[in-house]
Amino acid sequence: MFLYNAWYVAAWGTEIGEKPMGRTLLEEPVVFYRRSDGQVVALEDRCCHRGMPLSCGQVFGNNIRCEYHGMVFDGGGNCVEIPGQPLIPKSARVRSFPVAERDGLIWIWMGDANLSDPAAIPSYPWHARWPHKDKTERILCNYLLLSDNLLDQTHAAYVHKSTLASNVDAYERAEIKITPTEDGVKFIRWMLNCQPPGIYAKAVKFRGRVDRWGEFEYVAPSCILQFTGARDVGEGAYENDDRDGGFGLRIFYGITPETEHTSWFIWSAANGHRQNEPEATEELFREIERAFKEDEDVLVAQYATLRKIGDRPLINIASDGARVHARLALERKIAEERGIPREQVITLA
Ligand code: FES
Ligand SMILES: [Fe+2]
Repeated sequence: MFLYNAWYVAAWGTEIGEKPMGRTLLEEPVVFYRRSDGQVVALEDRCCHRGMPLSCGQVFGNNIRCEYHGMVFDGGGNCVEIPGQPLIPKSARVRSFPVAERDGLIWIWMGDANLSDPAAIPSYPWHARWPHKDKTERILCNYLLLSDNLLDQTHAAYVHKSTLASNVDAYERAEIKITPTEDGVKFIRWMLNCQPPGIYAKAVKFRGRVDRWGEFEYVAPSCILQFTGARDVGEGAYENDDRDGGFGLRIFYGITPETEHTSWFIWSAANGHRQNEPEATEELFREIERAFKEDEDVLVAQYATLRKIGDRPLINIASDGARVHARLALERKIAEERGIPREQVITLA
């Protein structure tokens, strides 16, 4: 079950050029292209004549031509040319979707276009401030499992032993503060006096043990902003909230349903240490990519099992706090959109 009246991350701006790009979002095939003036267009990826994907078509200036019988559509989805026919019926049009390009990302509104307001797009200035590298991945699980995974970081001790994990007891001793918000949830987790994880220790020379933080904000339905890092114990990261220096990493996550069973995972890793060294950003990206592969293996296995035996209840444990707040925020929004009581909004447990 999806929320429709919301902004979703569709792609990185660099993925869209004058060659059409087809991408299914919320079960809806969409074609993207960039007009000659640079504006991004998003249309239904199905020609209104005989259903040919427009993503197999060609862009000319601001328009796209279906490469089956040659009908041409403008960026608003209106047919502007039918070969060999002067009259263009009003019904000759395809749906167009509101899009906005912000912070290097292409956002799309899949619901009622009249309700779309670009001011509601979460802002992410870090792509302009920190060196970063990005990726788009297709993951074989429902999109909710991806945000669940990110919002319960206790999995790192087991799933990311070679990449992101500190000593297991640091997770058990972690101090966590969860703050529900109008659109989701924020939380910060402090792990004090712990071993630096492998990725951190490779990137930065620590004297010994570190104070480590992980700060996350979930904005329903599908965006997570992360700031994590560590400083040597005694440098005031925790005591004075002085988190410059040491190791710093910001990750943007756009998690957008492709279908009920598959998701787009559109992320960037931005580097807060050794910022003048491009190799440091590359290395960080590679390490995070490796860690996400570890997550992906878990999520695919978990989702395959949930699909087989999904109707038996699961339980929540203490570490589910932020995850539960995120789900509640999303369920509240879906219920409001559909005008139904919240108990009737059924999502994966
Ligand atoms: S299917 Fe597109 S013009 Fe015929
Ligand atoms: Fe993970």
